[in-house]
Parts: sequence; structure tokens; C-alpha cells
Amino acid sequence: MSQRPSHASDTTSEPAPVEMDAVGSRASDLPLLECAPSQRPLIEEVLEGLTAEEKFLPAKLHYDHRGSELFERICSVEEYYITRTELGIMKDSSEEIAESIGSGAMLIEPGSGASLKTRLLLDALDSPAAYVPVDISRDFLLEAAEEIARRHEVEVLPVWADFTKAHPLPEADGEVEGRAIYFPGSTIGNFTRAEARDLLGRFAEMVGANTSGDVGGSVIVGFDQKKEIGRMEAAYNDAEGVTAEFNYNVLDRLGRELEADLDRDKFTFRAEWDEEVGAIVSRLRAREAHEVEVAGRTIVFESGEPIRMEESHKYTREEFEALAGQVGLGLDRVWSDPADDFAVARLV
Ligand SMILES: C[S@@+](CC[C@H](N)C(=O)[O-])C[C@H]1O[C@@H](n2cnc3c(N)ncnc32)[C@H](O)[C@@H]1O
Repeated sequence: MSQRPSHASDTTSEPAPVEMDAVGSRASDLPLLECAPSQRPLIEEVLEGLTAEEKFLPAKLHYDHRGSELFERICSVEEYYITRTELGIMKDSSEEIAESIGSGAMLIEPGSGASLKTRLLLDALDSPAAYVPVDISRDFLLEAAEEIARRHEVEVLPVWADFTKAHPLPEADGEVEGRAIYFPGSTIGNFTRAEARDLLGRFAEMVGANTSGDVGGSVIVGFDQKKEIGRMEAAYNDAEGVTAEFNYNVLDRLGRELEADLDRDKFTFRAEWDEEVGAIVSRLRAREAHEVEVAGRTIVFESGEPIRMEESHKYTREEFEALAGQVGLGLDRVWSDPADDFAVARLV
């Protein structure tokens, strides 16, 4: 883990040309706190998934730079109602959400991606002390963080980390009057119920919420609500095939980074509702029996055998309240859209 020297960000200049450092990663004037795992755990995580009885790959593997770009494209496909609905909620309610957070806050965003909805919140917040975007997709994180630094009068302190693991937070130059977690995008849906519960518990600790009745900071979470199965399935099986490409890209990525010879043409893609799990489950399925080499191991696929790629959990409001309650968090406020498709909740 290393921390680069801090430089003041220039909020007035034109976008600078992209610079690459010696290992081909993007360089930035922003003080990037680097806490991301090395390649070794990547190999271990991939082999653990592909040698399991029911094969799976961790959902976070979707997010290399190309995956992050593909996710942004998914956000604007017609069938994917999630982003435009949550953006609508933020347009209508960011003043109220900002008020509930209070002034002088350090705003921490795990899985910040393009930080688009955050712009609305930063516009509405009273004198935020700092914005801390945390993401696993390093160069995409830096690009988004620089864009925020250009647009907003706020100290931007990006953290390259796996937010499911403990990581330090950067020090802000100014006085921090409180911390708030902003976790939009239904990213919480990519975790099983037990993982989501543990994440909320960690977020509560990070902001000092849930401490013996003395309300500290807030945890603001965007989650997708259960609705008609056809609409939920369509959102992950878009006609343009962008979501399928987002999944095939994981195979390509493993080819690039681990010299795995997973051939995308040998798999089909489909996302289906699983009533028992309460989630849309995305799978790649082998078209035919074949073998692949991954980091020196031979992985055997039967014809039709699936790789579980991602779960997108959906909640009723009561289910989400019960989940938060398991880690001592209460549902203080909920902002929703007119059709009540999506919810942004403040947990304290
Ligand atoms: C569903 S996208 C949401 C992006 C953005 N917050 C939004 O609302 O549009 C999930 C984001 O979380 C990041 N991510 C996923 N798993 C992660 C992990 N374990 N640690 C850090 N970032 C992660 C991805 O790179 C991606 O930017």
C-alpha cells in the first residue's frame, strides 16, 4: 500500500492530456491513496470460482477500465431503468438528502464509478470538507475524480481499493465535521444478503452512525425495489447486448491479465430472476463441452454448464429495513420516484 504525495487540485484548468506512468497506469495530480490488491489474490479468486462445484466469478471482476466504460453504456440503455430513475430521485431530492447529511461533511462514495449522481449531491451540500471516491477500477476512478475536481470547489481524495475489505481513509486538509457514506447505483444489490448486511455494518462504523443512540454520520444507499419480473429481467438482457458484452469482457480480461484462454464464443449470456435468492442472476453458459487453461490449471466445462457472473438483489422496503436493522441501523428517510421503482434510503 502506498500513498502518493498530495498536490492541490487545479479546479480551473482545461482537461489535461492523459499521462501514463511506467507500468502503463494513468498518472494524476490528485493524491491517490492506493490500497488495491496485487495480481496474486486475483488469480486465487478466479481459481476459487472456476474450481467450485457451481462455477462463479466475483462480480467486481467486471470492472477493469473497459468494464467501467461498458457499465456507463448500460446506464443509458432503454431497458436499464435503474440509473435514470435514481438520477430523477437525486434531481428532485438532493437538497433534502444534503440537508440530512449536514454541513462540513466528508462524503465517501464506495464504488463511485463515473460519480455522476454525486455531482448533484455535491452541488447541494453545504461546504463539504472533502469528497472521497473509492473504486477498484483505478484509471476510471482517476478520470472521474479529476472531473469532479474541475467542476466542484471541494477537496477530492480518491482511494483505489476493494471497498469490501478494510482500507484507510485519506486525511482532509480542512476541518471534517462529520462523515457520510453515499452508496448509490444499486451496487448493494451485487452482494448477497449476508454480504450486504456486513457492508452496511462496516459503513456504519466508518461514519460513526449507530453508536449508542448518538447519531453520528449518515449512510445513504440507493437500492432497487422488487417489481414485475419481466421488467427486471429485461434490464439485464438489453436488446443491444451491452450487458452481455459487459460479461464477455470479464473473459477477455482474464485472457489479458492471467493468460486464461477462456473463449467468449464458447459461451452464451442470460440473466434470470431467482425468486428464492431475490435477485437477478447473470450467467455465462458453455455452448459445448470444452477445457480451458487458467494460470496453469485445466478447467473442464460440461456442455451447458454455467458460470455465475453477478447477482443483482432486489428488496422490498420492509426487507431492506430488516437488513439494516440486523446491524443496528434504522431507516430514517426514504426518497423514491413516483412509480416507487427505486429507493434512496438514509440509514442512521
Ligand atoms: C453498479 S456500479 C455503480 C457506479 C456508480 N456508483 C453509479 O451509481 O452509477 C459499481 C461500481 O463499484 C465499483 N466496484 C465494484 N466492486 C467493487 C469493490 N469490491 N471495491 C471497489 N469498487 C468496486 C465498480 O468499479 C463500479 O464503479
